Amino acid sequence: MAHGKLISFEGIDGAGKSTQLDHAARCLAARGLRTRVTREPGGTPLAEQLRALLLAEPMDAITETLLLFAARRDHVERVIRPALAAGEWVLCDRFFDATLAYQGAGRGVAEDWLRGLQAQIAGDLEPDLTLLFDVPEALAAARLRHSGAAADRFEREPETFFGRVRSMYLARARAAQTRVCVIDARAPAEQVTSQVEAALTRLTERSAAGRPVSGGPGEGR
Ligand code: TYD
Repeated sequence: MAHGKLISFEGIDGAGKSTQLDHAARCLAARGLRTRVTREPGGTPLAEQLRALLLAEPMDAITETLLLFAARRDHVERVIRPALAAGEWVLCDRFFDATLAYQGAGRGVAEDWLRGLQAQIAGDLEPDLTLLFDVPEALAAARLRHSGAAADRFEREPETFFGRVRSMYLARARAAQTRVCVIDARAPAEQVTSQVEAALTRLTERSAAGRPVSGGPGEGR
């Protein structure tokens, strides 16, 4: 059976990725692909409990990082790897780029340590495609305010924090241009949707042609 694909959805809080993720799942299912939608932190009963703590409880950056990696380990082992092995297309709301962006650039946790932990808990598992929903931090903040939902521990961070997170995401995109597709998420929803559909079409076509989707070994890691 063909191995499935892993697609991650990234962006600062308020970029609008979650709506697009649901649409992308419908789009792939309509092309006859078996899809699974999941998220980080979360995706398993244990990881969802860790998520609730991460979003609510005050904690320092190292504790936060370790809880995120514990959640990721459980998720990778119990959900992502089995689903990929069963040929499913896994759509994951955030993955390791979020850790480098939020804990690395946002909180100032050492990048080497983050990379080392990632290698230990996930080996060389990397998304085949990452959709990065990019918006300026001021626009994302305005969207969050207008959403009316209560802000979680991350969403309460100041715009300067999200400025650092965004810069790291864009640096990751520059370093891994084949894997990461930057979506201009300032555009109206329909235009964002067509950018997503175009990226998914490129991936399904390459996959059908049997060509490797990501770049050379270790690109952008
Ligand atoms: P998010 O996708 O924003 O969930 P929601 O749309 O329901 O608010 O994810 C929750 C938060 O988790 C988000 O603010 C970023 C944070 N996060 C990290 O800081 N590091 C990580 O590695 C991951 C996966 C998430």
